[in-house]
Amino acid sequence: PTAGTSTGATTRASSVPLPLDAGFFQDPQAVYAALREEGPVRKVVLPEAKGWQAWIVTRYDEARAALADPRLLKNDRVALRQYLDPEQIGEFDSAFVEALQAHMLSSDPPDHTRLRKLVNKAFTSRRVEALRPRVEAITEELLDEMARRGADGEPVDLIDAFASPLPMTVICELLGVPQNDRADFRGWCTVVMTDGGEDSDRTASYAMAGYLRQLIAAKRANPGEDLLTGLVQARDDGDRLEENELIAMAFLLLLAGHETTVNLIGNGMLALLRNPGQLDRLRADLSLMGGAIEELLRYDGPLNLATTRFTSEPVRVGDVEIPRGQIVLVSLASANHDEHRFPDAGRLDVTRRSSGHLGFGHGIHYCVGAPLARLEAEVAFTRILTRFPNLSLALEPHEVRWRQSTLIRGVEHLPVRIF
Ligand code: HEM
Repeated sequence: PTAGTSTGATTRASSVPLPLDAGFFQDPQAVYAALREEGPVRKVVLPEAKGWQAWIVTRYDEARAALADPRLLKNDRVALRQYLDPEQIGEFDSAFVEALQAHMLSSDPPDHTRLRKLVNKAFTSRRVEALRPRVEAITEELLDEMARRGADGEPVDLIDAFASPLPMTVICELLGVPQNDRADFRGWCTVVMTDGGEDSDRTASYAMAGYLRQLIAAKRANPGEDLLTGLVQARDDGDRLEENELIAMAFLLLLAGHETTVNLIGNGMLALLRNPGQLDRLRADLSLMGGAIEELLRYDGPLNLATTRFTSEPVRVGDVEIPRGQIVLVSLASANHDEHRFPDAGRLDVTRRSSGHLGFGHGIHYCVGAPLARLEAEVAFTRILTRFPNLSLALEPHEVRWRQSTLIRGVEHLPVRIF
């Protein structure tokens, strides 16, 4: 839409409810398209958060600018307090919540800079490339098992059998989480990332934090070759990391390293199976894979509604002035479908030049795990397409059930037939 079709900035500064209902989870892009049509920024009321108001940024240029704006903070506690009732503040201040919040994705410079520096090196393209043989071996093993289970033509759930165990195994091996503990982890991650179940959410977070505390103690006693041992040593030697920060770092890496990549593989495979022309094109020329993965991230990436920031002072975003102390929701999924930046954005095109998409964010919080996610996706899609030329969906389009999560965009199950 051109500026002429936008509703006025004044109208958009009065809030409307953000319709996070069943229809939204089924087709969030329809909601974003309507918001983008109105203008780059809209004041909204969040339905499940006790009437909190927020500002959602939905167009590409404004979203990108917002992510690079140093006045938009991750951890503005003053701002946050305006939104929390006293009961919640007690909880917010509890040592437990502090422990899990003390990670780079909820920090601003200088803490953010210090925390990110501790893991940056582990995720450079070169270091990640060294993991390729291991990623390939895990992939092959999982696909062997899938092939066995699907040999008689029975549907196999691609999420349970492949998309979830691959990144979980890789991130657990990288961090040094023992094999026997990984099943628990998967359960906790799913609960933590799903909206609505506050109690179960808290129980899962407690369980995970308690477990990580023990694991860190074990690494101290018996150092390994893994990333977590490296972080324990960084803490103990140089005092560059608080104990809380160490736990939160492990928590963030495990959660971010797993829940996202699962759904890049799941949503990506679903998108390709629903667009057989694109799937054939890619299978016929696997050299398109790198670009195709960027397009899959753009087209239906694993993050749902938005990433959050707080205004530390009044900030003009597009044509709207957002006062100090407000929640700003930057919708990456919406920005990635902005027609001005990606013409015919609703069409999957594996040959599209999708670079510049915001699927991994932008600015100082740009995804530190992007090289790892890209590697896992490249190996996963290449091997699935090569090994299973007859792969097909084993459910009707209307049977696809999307997770009811504002954080994660992904399907609960993806039954496929292999032969
Ligand atoms: C940050 C997306 C995989 C670790 C981010 C951000 C996005 C993102 C959008 C920025 C959020 C913001 O600005 O608020 C994704 C997607 C992935 C993926 C789409 C997979 C397809 C991974 C993996 C890891 C990881 C495999 C880890 C091993 C992180 C961390 C941050 C982050 C630690 C915080 C960076 C910072 O605050 O500086 N990710 N991610 N991510 N991601 Fe990822």
